[in-house]
Amino acid sequence: MKITVIGTGYVGLVTGTCLAEMGNHVVCVDVDGEKIRILEQGGIPIHEPGLLEMVTRNRSAGRLQFTTDLVAGVAHGTLQFIGVGTPPDEDGAADLTYVLEAARNIGRHMTDHKVIIDKSTVPVGTGERVRAAVAEELARRGLTIDFAVVSNPEFLKEGAAVEDFMRPDRIVIGADDEQAILLMRALYSPFIRNHDRLLVMDLKSAEFTKYAANSMLATRISFMNELALLAEKVGADIELVRKGIGSDPRIGYHFLYSGAGYGGSCFPKDVKALISTARNEGIDLKVLHAVEAANERQKLVLVDKVLARFGSDLTGRRFAIWGLAFKPNTDDMREAPSRVIISELARRGASLTAYDPVAMPEARRVLQDIEGLTFVDQPAQALDGADALIIITEWKEFKSPDFDAIKSRLKQAVVIDGRNLYEPALMTALGIEYIGVGRSNRSCENAT
Ligand SMILES: NC(=O)c1ccc[n+]([C@@H]2O[C@H](COP(=O)([O-])OP(=O)(O)OC[C@H]3O[C@@H](n4cnc5c(N)ncnc54)[C@H](O)[C@@H]3O)[C@@H](O)[C@H]2O)c1
Repeated sequence: MKITVIGTGYVGLVTGTCLAEMGNHVVCVDVDGEKIRILEQGGIPIHEPGLLEMVTRNRSAGRLQFTTDLVAGVAHGTLQFIGVGTPPDEDGAADLTYVLEAARNIGRHMTDHKVIIDKSTVPVGTGERVRAAVAEELARRGLTIDFAVVSNPEFLKEGAAVEDFMRPDRIVIGADDEQAILLMRALYSPFIRNHDRLLVMDLKSAEFTKYAANSMLATRISFMNELALLAEKVGADIELVRKGIGSDPRIGYHFLYSGAGYGGSCFPKDVKALISTARNEGIDLKVLHAVEAANERQKLVLVDKVLARFGSDLTGRRFAIWGLAFKPNTDDMREAPSRVIISELARRGASLTAYDPVAMPEARRVLQDIEGLTFVDQPAQALDGADALIIITEWKEFKSPDFDAIKSRLKQAVVIDGRNLYEPALMTALGIEYIGVGRSNRSCENAT
């Protein structure tokens, strides 16, 4: 099939590349000339495991092209995916400026039948607004050209995006046009060959499903973070509690880790947007308000632990920071808890030496105003002479570190672990003062 993807960010680039991998002819369009330049020169503008190889393969095969030429982009695809950003506006609602601009652009330049597929995360009712925007542009040109609008929310996880797209748990299609539904079935059938995981529903329900999914996941995280605060007070270990409840199949193990709060480009903005949609309908989503408030508090939990251990004036203190990205396997720093933690510690006079396996270039850009923040190329370098090690992102390479080096290179053998990577009992045995989230320091010998 001939496909155009409008917006070549995390979602657009992965979508376009994976669709090309199945043999489709894909043109990815973006207004950001720098992004397109990097892609045309054989690089990729983001870190995503497996993506560069797939982009390279499909470019060489002539199935994947990148352009800033919006007119050529509209001309190419029968299927027009919209994968542009939907950041929160000042009230927390999703800002649809980019989505509607992309839709208008299709209406301005289309000359034949198009299926317009919204892959961006958009509030209920956006499909209708996309339809109206395209129709308005066609009317302005005095043309009647048939087109369909489909909602196809994306559920990929950054850091595992290629894998998620190639082997999806489910594909949600919201549409009322039978021809468009048939096309979408054909497009996705190679991705779901062993059993059908395509869920067809109406447009509004599809749009709603994406927000419901992210809000549910955010709720689980905030719930566990609150329980972790209580576990510390009463002397329980949240990691044992997590295993205790996760073993119940009605609950399951996913998204039950307490830590430094959720971040990234999706959960914070999608929770806000659903609250905003509900507010417009006169409904106060009390659970989600609490989820948001708990998360804001949680981002400061590591700071509170530093202050409890070292006092409120951190002048002259230096801390090693391991992990900056909002989660492992990505360089995405959007809404990363590290940003709040680093700003707050620096504001109190601390200097910080940070390491992240891939997010340092992006971190340098977004944290450039922070005084006393330096970056190092190796995790061990960050330790030298620091008062404590603070772990913010659970990269694999931090999971089995050289504990002797941690102990000997730090000025004080203190580890403040925002991701609960280590066993408290082991750390105590090693002579390292260990401060996790919701952990007790009792022996965990029987824990598995
Ligand atoms: N990042 C994720 O993990 C993820 C997962 C699922 C869904 N989503 C949703 O997908 C959407 C895109 O997210 P993202 O993380 O890929 O965003 P992004 O910021 O990485 O990419 C968006 C791209 O769209 C481009 N753009 C903006 N307006 C344009 C226009 N009129 N024409 C062409 N290009 C335009 C921007 O230059 C940018 O490169 C959002 O709605 C997001 O909520 C994201």
